[in-house]
Amino acid sequence: MMKLVKLLALVLFATAIALPMWMATPVEGQGEAQGARTLVGQSGDDEAPTTDMDAKTDDLFNGFGIRGTPPNECDTNNEPEPPTERGNGTFEDNLFIFSERETIEDGLGPTFNDTGCVECHQFPDPGAFAQNMEFRAGRVSNGNFVDNPGGQLIHARATDSDIVEHIDTAQTVKAFRVVLSTLGDGFVECISNTSLINNVASQPSAQRGTLTNVPVVEANNALRVGRFGWKAQHASLQSFSGDAYLNEMGITNPFDGSGGNTENPASTAEGVKNVTFPSPFDPAQDPEDDGDDVLAFADFMAATRAPGRQNPIPFSDRDNVDRGESLFKQIGCEVCHTDTFITAAPNTLINGGAFRVPAALGNKKIHPFSDFALHNIGTGDGIVQNGGQSSANQIRTAALWGLRARNRLMHDGLTVTVFDAIQRHAGQATNARNAFNGLSSGSRSDVIKFLLSL
Ligand code: HEC
Ligand code: HEC
Repeated sequence: MMKLVKLLALVLFATAIALPMWMATPVEGQGEAQGARTLVGQSGDDEAPTTDMDAKTDDLFNGFGIRGTPPNECDTNNEPEPPTERGNGTFEDNLFIFSERETIEDGLGPTFNDTGCVECHQFPDPGAFAQNMEFRAGRVSNGNFVDNPGGQLIHARATDSDIVEHIDTAQTVKAFRVVLSTLGDGFVECISNTSLINNVASQPSAQRGTLTNVPVVEANNALRVGRFGWKAQHASLQSFSGDAYLNEMGITNPFDGSGGNTENPASTAEGVKNVTFPSPFDPAQDPEDDGDDVLAFADFMAATRAPGRQNPIPFSDRDNVDRGESLFKQIGCEVCHTDTFITAAPNTLINGGAFRVPAALGNKKIHPFSDFALHNIGTGDGIVQNGGQSSANQIRTAALWGLRARNRLMHDGLTVTVFDAIQRHAGQATNARNAFNGLSSGSRSDVIKFLLSL
């Protein structure tokens, strides 16, 4: 009896010590799986707000931050103001900045792919999709992928014909990448590491995805589970934006991953040329953006609604779509194309401590139809980014939300029908593809109708 009392006292004491720790800010898990999932995420079942992806009627704002009013550059009282830290700007200003076209004076180029984020992330809503491609190249040496001299990203354009990039024939690994939509990515950013890890741990080993920890630039390169990009090469929207501002547009900034002072060298026919200011090719001093625009991009994307289902689904198709959805689960597509995640609780510190999950994005149920993990389904492009050499032949599971708004499919955009996209599934997805092919033609068309309702 005495022992029991002592034990009780001990337990109470330990609880008293632990309590303040529980009540302190929750921090997302860093480590290994904590057992198999029952539901991927925390408790809570608020559906995330969705957009109908109709540019004419859409309300894109999901409630993160302040909406504000559309700015007007001609009115000095109403110029767009970027945030000074994440979340303190307005949605309308951030949308405006995301939609701006940069000029050479702003720092555009010297080598670049396009003039503004919205040029590639454009329709049906700003932030979404376009048919633009990005091109990467390198070679294999001693079994390892090696970047093209001057960098694996080969820009399509330059501000001067002398520095338009040309690769040589030694670069045998060549890969096109089509644009990924960023709509709803604020919710994806707020999925905790643990939720992603538990989800993958619950997959059968033959289909299990690979998650890789990647540096979060704004958190001194603290590691977090990657989830953005075809190679899941980034974990935060701010890091992705800093990278894209430099790599897609040539605008150096503090979050670009190389310190904000260096342009990508140009791989020209005469060899690799340094094009960083004060080279004759670049009139703009570095960093060309002090980081404000990067925050505006990240916050704009974080404040967009998740892609919603087709609404209404044509009456004559409703039963087919429902049947297609059950079949999609039955034949094992859902193993990788995870239908539901719940984001981390509001206030959780994520991104290596650099971002706190806001109320509008926390505890929200989303339906991305992706595990955000890398898989080898036989489509790997041979390129290595943040995932190490073993990721050369892996690609992140394509998120199927909003599929109906895209018609260039798979990472290379070379597939133009959903049927053919399924046929390209091999490797870890062979069983699922075979199961699809084993269905009656009516059932196959139901699966496709379901996919095109996403
Ligand atoms: C030339 C076209 C182009 C421009 C300009 C461009 N992007 Fe992208 N974006 C892409 C492509 C292509 C991908 C897929 C890249 C990959 O993973 O290989 C992508 C992917 C992304 C993703 C990952 C989305 C996800 O869900 O995984 C984010 C975030 C993003 N871009 C943000 C931006 C921002 C911010 C800008 C402006 C600074 C920008 N992009 C400019 C083409 C572009
Ligand atoms: C082992 C994991 C896995 C399974 C199982 C799987 N997929 Fe995929 N799926 C992927 C990956 C990875 C990609 C991206 C591949 C690429 O772009 O090269 C993808 C891409 C797709 C795309 C193209 C989407 C786009 O936006 O380009 C569709 C459609 C698709 N899958 C449908 C299905 C269907 C239907 C099934 C079941 C028959 C299925 N998948 C089973 C991993 C999987």
